Amino acid sequence: MKRAIIWSGVLAAAVAGGCATTADRAAYDAKATATIQRDFHARGIATMDRLEQDELQLACTKYRDHLPADVEKRLAAQQAAAIRLPADGKLSGDWKRGAALAENGRGMTWSDKPGQPSGGSCYNCHELAPQQTSFGTMGPSLRQFGKLRGYTAEVQKYAYERIYNSKAFTPCSAMPRFGTSGTLTEAQIKDLVAYLTDPESPVNK
Ligand code: HEC
Repeated sequence: MKRAIIWSGVLAAAVAGGCATTADRAAYDAKATATIQRDFHARGIATMDRLEQDELQLACTKYRDHLPADVEKRLAAQQAAAIRLPADGKLSGDWKRGAALAENGRGMTWSDKPGQPSGGSCYNCHELAPQQTSFGTMGPSLRQFGKLRGYTAEVQKYAYERIYNSKAFTPCSAMPRFGTSGTLTEAQIKDLVAYLTDPESPVNK
């Protein structure tokens, strides 16, 4: 009797480990959420609302970043609709300020003061210029971004929209939504666009 009980336990574990069902996944997600809710403590500007996933994030969690085509199309359109292009029609700013922003990983932590400007932390995921001391490779290399794609208004618009909300292009992208989340201001995004698309920028040398 005892042996039978042990074996049924081993079997259940093997089944659960071998092929997780949708119900298993939902249970794991609920457990993970509860653990994070329990262990994350609001401090300074890092408040509990950081744990709330919006519709897009919930879908990416549910489908493990592999959205069904119809869901992907709808959510990409939803994210694109939230992009606000600059009212003055100017998409590009100062590449020197953009260079400093791209290499600045500060901001959004509990020890940052409210209203203190954040950096872009682009270097964490992208190769950008030969002067970089180090860079991450989670994102593609952006070396010679403007030089290779052309110094056109269209390329500037693409860069602006990518920085504002990369999830309008790749819904489950790992790249933060810098504009939509309010992490970067319009002026900061313009400076980053200049860093990527100005012929004088080290990115294009
Ligand atoms: C956490 C990692 C991460 C950070 C930080 C990040 N990116 Fe990205 N980025 C990505 C990934 C991954 C992609 C690939 C496409 C996708 O998944 O959206 C990407 C794509 C891009 C693209 C489109 C590239 C192409 O070939 O068309 C641009 C432009 C870009 N990022 C610019 C930036 C800038 C500027 C910053 C800083 C403000 C930045 N990224 C910060 C991860 C990141």
